[in-house]
Amino acid sequence: MEENLKIPQHVSIIMDGNGRWATSHGKPRLFGHKEGAESLRACMQFAVEMQIKYLSIFAFSTENWGRPEEEIQGLWSLLLESINKETSYMIENHVRFRVVGNLEELPEYLRIAIHDAEEATAACTGSVLVVMLNYSGKWDIVQAANRFAEENPGKKMEWADMDRYLATAGIPDPDLLIRTSGEERISNYMLWQTAYTEFYFTDCLWPDFRKPEFRLALEAYSRRKRRFGKL
Ligand code: IPE
Ligand code: IPE
Ligand code: MG
Repeated sequence: MEENLKIPQHVSIIMDGNGRWATSHGKPRLFGHKEGAESLRACMQFAVEMQIKYLSIFAFSTENWGRPEEEIQGLWSLLLESINKETSYMIENHVRFRVVGNLEELPEYLRIAIHDAEEATAACTGSVLVVMLNYSGKWDIVQAANRFAEENPGKKMEWADMDRYLATAGIPDPDLLIRTSGEERISNYMLWQTAYTEFYFTDCLWPDFRKPEFRLALEAYSRRKRRFGKL
């Protein structure tokens, strides 16, 4: 199988099912998010091993603000802890860290930690870990359209302009999008960028999604025939 594995340039993951995983273990939801952080670490290592250039992950959607304050604060603490813990690993493994989303709405201490980790890994030329944070596809398209209009008065937007003004500018569109936990929807994630992405859905809950499950997704991707509208 190994030799037939096609390695996508960009794998994106909607990490879903942390809450249900915690409930099934009789634990509070935050326990599931903590275990989910371990899955992310394992998947990042696998991406490095497999030389996947971009691994992006949906960490917090603009709609997730509708969750209880306690859960949101818990997610910020966990993110801060993960950044502090993983930055040296990323540098050692040449992983560049990037965060994409509406960062203005995040607490300042988190913005500073994100900025510092991005700076610390800016020269890394291996894989890129892109954390999609306070992100939504509709937010991205509207901010891109507004910025384009401001900077190009009277001009009509072309497809390529959209690519340049999206918050994900410079990152190739995902080749493979994985969603865990059995949900089969896009939940306002990268709407424009997934125009020709291959989708892979698994019932596996995110805290249980580790290297073997990631490998299965790559194997499924390798069997796909991407046609892009051609024959
Ligand atoms: C995904 O797991 C993590 C985030 C959205 C932050 P959930 O928290 O959505 O877990 P479920 O879907 O409730 O099980
Ligand atoms: C999508 O998961 C968002 C993230 C993984 C960050 P949700 O759990 O928020 O999605 P819905 O509400 O089930 O569509
Ligand atoms: Mg969910």
